[in-house]
Amino acid sequence: MMPIFIDKKSKSFRMDTPGSSYCMQVSQYGDLLHTHYGGRISDMDLSELWNQKREFSPNPAECGDRLYSLDVSLQEVPGNMTGDYRTPSVIIKDSTGAAAVRFQYESFRVYEGKSELAGLPSSFCGKKQADTLEITLTDTYSKVKAVLIYTVFRDMDMITRSVRLINEGEKAVYIKKAASSCVEFADSRYELVSLPGCWAMERTPQRKELFQGRQVYESRRGASSHQMNPFLALVRPETNEVHGQAYGFSFVYSGNFMGEAEVSQYGTSRILLGIHPQDFTWKLETEEAFQTPEVVMTYTDQGLGAMSRNFHDFYRNHLCNPRWMDTRRPILINNWEATYFDFNSARLLEIGKEAVELGIEMLVIDDGWFGKREDDTSSLGDWVVNRRKLPEGLKPLVGKLREMGLKSGIWMEPEMVSKDSQLYRKHPEWCLHIEGRPCSTGRSQYVLDLARADVCEYLFEAVDQVLSESGFAYLKWDMNRHLTEVGSVLLGTDRQGEIFHRYVLGLYQILGRIVRAHPDVLIEGCSGGGGRFDPGMLYYCPQIWTSDDTDAGERMMIQYGTSMVYPPSAMGSHVSACPNHQTGRTVSLHTRGMTAMTGGFGYEMDLGKLSLEEKEEVKRQIEAYKQYAELIMHGDYFRLVNPDEGRDICAWEFVSKDKKKVLVHYVQMRGRANGPLHILQLQGLLAAERYQEKKAGLIYHGDTLMNAGLRMPLLMGDFQGYQFYLEARDSNVG
Ligand code: GLA
Repeated sequence: MMPIFIDKKSKSFRMDTPGSSYCMQVSQYGDLLHTHYGGRISDMDLSELWNQKREFSPNPAECGDRLYSLDVSLQEVPGNMTGDYRTPSVIIKDSTGAAAVRFQYESFRVYEGKSELAGLPSSFCGKKQADTLEITLTDTYSKVKAVLIYTVFRDMDMITRSVRLINEGEKAVYIKKAASSCVEFADSRYELVSLPGCWAMERTPQRKELFQGRQVYESRRGASSHQMNPFLALVRPETNEVHGQAYGFSFVYSGNFMGEAEVSQYGTSRILLGIHPQDFTWKLETEEAFQTPEVVMTYTDQGLGAMSRNFHDFYRNHLCNPRWMDTRRPILINNWEATYFDFNSARLLEIGKEAVELGIEMLVIDDGWFGKREDDTSSLGDWVVNRRKLPEGLKPLVGKLREMGLKSGIWMEPEMVSKDSQLYRKHPEWCLHIEGRPCSTGRSQYVLDLARADVCEYLFEAVDQVLSESGFAYLKWDMNRHLTEVGSVLLGTDRQGEIFHRYVLGLYQILGRIVRAHPDVLIEGCSGGGGRFDPGMLYYCPQIWTSDDTDAGERMMIQYGTSMVYPPSAMGSHVSACPNHQTGRTVSLHTRGMTAMTGGFGYEMDLGKLSLEEKEEVKRQIEAYKQYAELIMHGDYFRLVNPDEGRDICAWEFVSKDKKKVLVHYVQMRGRANGPLHILQLQGLLAAERYQEKKAGLIYHGDTLMNAGLRMPLLMGDFQGYQFYLEARDSNVG
């Protein structure tokens, strides 16, 4: 049954997912009010919930009494300067210079399935999997229409929302703010979970109480950033991993964003998410439309774990390129931490030879193969082979690796240009810059102006050529600095506020073309590690290098935070050498392997330096990964113990969709001479099923494993890992 209900009499709308309802109603004055988002409800007319007389809150001009004020209403698309003093979701400056806006209801339409969003990555589905409700509102005076686009999924607790603004006036208007979603809550007894971080320590969960006033979670760096992920969860104070209400909001966008949480004077809460309004002004000519990216929303009363699994299923099945949905990703060796810039073909072939003997399937040639790149100060933009290092060129090298049984992958950082490069010398005007003002460098490089069509064309051709000529099966698409002096010479002075967004649109356009031209090339996103780990990039790159921090001890924390929104299948994760290059820590090879086996798996070390014993361990890891890959990439993911909880342990679990296969990763972070007892309670099993753990020869029922738990061994040393696998007894796989 179509899950969208419309009651024409009370002018109300309700969208139902299996476990949630999202409701709106048009007020007597034509404003679209938000009436409920949360657990399922059965009624439509919720007008009883509003209208309370308040002092110091203005009443709209046409309103005959003092009962109605936008300042106290819960709204779907709150405007500006028309009586609501909370943060607006849209600000438009019209041709008179006025920035007042109030959208009022006009019409709706409903259709099966979901439409693409012009120029933007967005979730997709079959016609029978979801339904879309579009509600059109108009601001009478600026003559701008707002089309609110909601898609509600039939079998998942997921709703997406975006906004299309259309200028139906006779003159151009300027969009100053256009949030993609706005959800209002009747109270503020909530906490906000966000994912802040920094380079090499991305997405470390933070949980803060709401308070009267405004909290802002943002990136203004031109990329979604290491510093804050485009995601917010709103939870009750009592919500934990397994219990309680949790709302998740995830933004399908890779540039500047702002998430806001505002608690009003009366204790209601407003959550907004969208393109960052700072440094953003979009000129909208007559009859033009502006499409915002979409926000993906989920609601559950089963805690943060269930919220994450909703996102995991959704992103795996309705956002990531379907080409990679069921294909196991190749186990790879990347030469970065093995050689950095110091390699040549002989060295790469040596690494390849070692790799293939251990069962590795692909060699990725990282930074340094092009131009005259010997360190990070030159040659970005010159995507021609470095003949000193690879005299015979890329194609013969790829051919030799193929003969050895290895696929090949390549690193590129297409959006950048080094100051010391042929490209910069030829086209200095191609980088983002403001006339007459010097450009800041970052890692000695400039950012190309992706707001320009000619630059985008050059980039597509450069990447296309590298991929086509040499037969690469994989591309690591990196981005190693953020934007500064954001000016574009081809755009007029009235359009300089569009560049941040046009940059992202340019990037999406190039990535889309590359994916279409090279459907079998696996693209791994990267930005100084996980600096652009967002759903927008995931649409093109089914996996993203999670962090430049490869220390297993820290990686398990980064992956823990990343899993709030993103499935293991999205996380690039490698075993690297010890002492670790970022932290100096030594962690056992076993634990390093286990930690890396939480996503797209690989190695990033000089395999030639491994002892025979270590090589045997690597072979075992590769076998194990092959055996468990399906479970890791497609199973349900459970965070069992938070590494930050102060218990000195961390544990996570993968459970197959039929709940019959279970893989548990347990890490004792600190060795204790006579440490506490650690009982691990599993999750997501069938209570009545009997599960067998072969290593210890145990057989227990699911309910016992979930409620009583299993005793974990006391291990010798810090960061010691224990991996175990259970299987329902009657199952014959494994
Ligand atoms: C970034 C990436 C690394 C590596 C280097 C190469 O920092 O995150 O994995 O590719 O660039 O310069």
